[in-house]
Amino acid sequence: MGEYSITKKYTSKVQREIEERKLQHISIPLKKDVEARSATTLLEDVHLIHQALPELNFDEISTTTTFLNHRFSAPIIIDAMTGGTKISGKINATLASGAEKVGVGMVVGSQRAGLESKEAAESYVIARRNAPNAFLAANVGGAQLSKGLGVEECKQLVDMINANALIVHLNPLQEVVQPEGEPFYRGVLRKISELVRGVDVPVIVKEVGSGLSREVAVKLELEGVSAVNVSGLGGTSWAAVEKYRAEAEKADMKASLGNLFWDWGVPTAVSLIEVRKAVRMPIIVSGGLRNGLDMAKGLALGASLCAKALPFLKAATESEERLVSLLQKTIYEIKTAMFLTGAQNLEQLSKSRYVITGSLAGWIRSSQD
Ligand SMILES: Cc1cc2nc3c(=O)[nH]c(=O)nc-3n(C[C@H](O)[C@H](O)[C@H](O)COP(=O)(O)O)c2cc1C
Repeated sequence: MGEYSITKKYTSKVQREIEERKLQHISIPLKKDVEARSATTLLEDVHLIHQALPELNFDEISTTTTFLNHRFSAPIIIDAMTGGTKISGKINATLASGAEKVGVGMVVGSQRAGLESKEAAESYVIARRNAPNAFLAANVGGAQLSKGLGVEECKQLVDMINANALIVHLNPLQEVVQPEGEPFYRGVLRKISELVRGVDVPVIVKEVGSGLSREVAVKLELEGVSAVNVSGLGGTSWAAVEKYRAEAEKADMKASLGNLFWDWGVPTAVSLIEVRKAVRMPIIVSGGLRNGLDMAKGLALGASLCAKALPFLKAATESEERLVSLLQKTIYEIKTAMFLTGAQNLEQLSKSRYVITGSLAGWIRSSQD
């Protein structure tokens, strides 16, 4: 584990508020329905073409891949979720051991709290302890960068978990709906560019469920970002999570805003297709992927890795066995889609034929104008 130091201390009141918010960010998605309401990923409009002559045996199929020089047994990464409290530490411990056992990757949740106290840092450190070999990524928010978090602090976040990459999350919708949100996004691109030059690991940029447009992806590639995670619309909605928090705090205007923007964003399939056309860097697809068939479609559309968050959280809060079994089931589903499209490996899956229908076809047609 690298060296990191605790740079500043919050007052105990602010510390308590942060812990309370972090707990709500786990408990609300676990208890309430926070997924897209009438929007979907639009992956249902992607049809992989069935090949009745696969000319291979199921047990010859390989899902191994290499992403940013790291080997994965399957193209899956547990997306960023939590950290900063005792309960989050337990969840991170389970997510990390599951990832290590199966040979997939993991992103820890926003790590700013880890700079404030040793106890909070421990809830992230445990991830590397339980996953000594897995691809593990550090996580920081764009709004925190805008407010002044710099290269030195981000290096500490990377060292804290001996991370293989640093992930910056962009969450403007969440920041504006959140009762105590910090919708500060001026200067974030410049800060990302400084991180690309200043930290020793690849920098990846992700959304949190509203998708990346091609305009944003192109800007990020020009600044030297190594990969993006589109994290599109169709799964967890942060407008929804913050709406529930705003209701509880009687912040009526915020609650109404969360309701209005619940389904805001670029659907995952649209985001993936338009970003794939616009940039050359590797893409992670996430946002509403709920089974291995969704993931196989994402891989056929050009993603290098598939990520998901909420279903892994639900499994990890039950048990590590439950998480491992969900990961294995998902890999089995990806392999089945590969068998039925005649793809022995992921390279072949990326070249398999598909047809796009319905709303997705409409989106793609009009977004080319
Ligand atoms: C409980 C929970 C906490 C999350 N916290 C973070 C976070 O700290 N940082 C981040 O980059 N994304 C965070 N996300 C967003 C996810 O990483 C992911 O981009 C999004 O939930 C879409 O995936 P899903 O539909 O599979 O949940 C969180 C998601 C959930 C469900």
